[in-house]
Amino acid sequence: MIILGIETSCDETAISLIEASGELTNPQFKLLAQVVSSQTAVHAEWGGVVPSLAKREHAKNIISVLTECLKLAKLATEEKPNLSAEKLEEIKQLLVRESDLTKNFIAFIQTTPIPKIDSIAVTYGPGLEPALWVGINFAKALALTWNKPVIPVNHMAGHIASVLIDNQAVDFPAIALLVSGGHTELALVHSWSKYELVGQTRDDAVGEAFDKVARLLGLPYPGGPALSALAKQAPPEKLFSLPRPMLHSSDLDFSFSGLKTAVFYLVKDKILTDKEKSALALEFETAVIEVLITKTFKAVEKYDARTIIAGGGVIANLKLRQVLTTKITTDYPTTRLLMPPLELATDNATMIAMAGYLHLINNPPNFDLEKIEAKGNLTF
Ligand code: KG4
Ligand code: ZN
Repeated sequence: MIILGIETSCDETAISLIEASGELTNPQFKLLAQVVSSQTAVHAEWGGVVPSLAKREHAKNIISVLTECLKLAKLATEEKPNLSAEKLEEIKQLLVRESDLTKNFIAFIQTTPIPKIDSIAVTYGPGLEPALWVGINFAKALALTWNKPVIPVNHMAGHIASVLIDNQAVDFPAIALLVSGGHTELALVHSWSKYELVGQTRDDAVGEAFDKVARLLGLPYPGGPALSALAKQAPPEKLFSLPRPMLHSSDLDFSFSGLKTAVFYLVKDKILTDKEKSALALEFETAVIEVLITKTFKAVEKYDARTIIAGGGVIANLKLRQVLTTKITTDYPTTRLLMPPLELATDNATMIAMAGYLHLINNPPNFDLEKIEAKGNLTF
């Protein structure tokens, strides 16, 4: 079946089309088209994501993202929809809170033939609620127009599903390390329909810590990629020593705000040389990775996990990927490590469409659109 995925939980407006088949034990996915429109430039001057701007940008861009995705996928189409005045009114009502979108949406559906898709999967949380609502209302309006069901998808389940693009069969139980700008979590994945949160950050998310420390070092937003590029230029000698917060705590939780504060005091009222800046970037990256790796393998041992699934924007960090790979090869040769390709590590809609398929083969499709709502603090 063909699934259209929609993701607007943060600052990427993303739409993908995938072809999915197979049982829950062996799902198969083929990516037909993926389009991601990033708002990074809009939020950069504020040093982080501004929810009202994110909502405005999603509403402004989502139709052209869909148009491009449909064009790339070259799907078969049916006739253009023949909408009654009543149905048009219903669609307008639905989009009433997305006034920026309504006029363009009506023009779009009247000129676009119905694509041959089976379902629409959309992120309903966690994330920024105003941003989530744009995707949800857009999905509902498309569902009404094209008469398709909507699958509500948990964004974090999406990050977990991101590793399935290469048609991996996963041995359970699995431990998922989810690291992004908004989350730092360890989840125990019993099966594709049962997830359990077993550890999380008590304060900042790891991506957020990267972004804040990058800012302290004068680097642009988003800080993760910039900071790790700077760390690569570090001198061989160690110039700074940062704490490894909660490294030896008995639980599986994390804390990153102390690390950010430690960097703050190191740079306060000082002008660091380029050499010092890069050494500090490396020490920060090393400290973060050490904590993430230690807790992940602690969880693997505690739950006797057969697979590690790593996902989220911070998994785009090459050093973290490398350290995870080395550790598993040398110390845990019977455990498997699954990571998404780089373009599916940061937010995208392919992972939402894949998680939507996993959900759909467990649950009946949802035609009751009214029940789907944004849940900013959604957990597993
Ligand atoms: O998953 P994602 O795209 O969005 C959220 O759901 O938050 O993650 C974005 C986060 C940002 O904080 C960004 O700085 C971080 O992922 N990130 C990285 C790298 N690439 C992106 N952090 C460290 N190293 C990277 N190479
Ligand atoms: Zn994410």
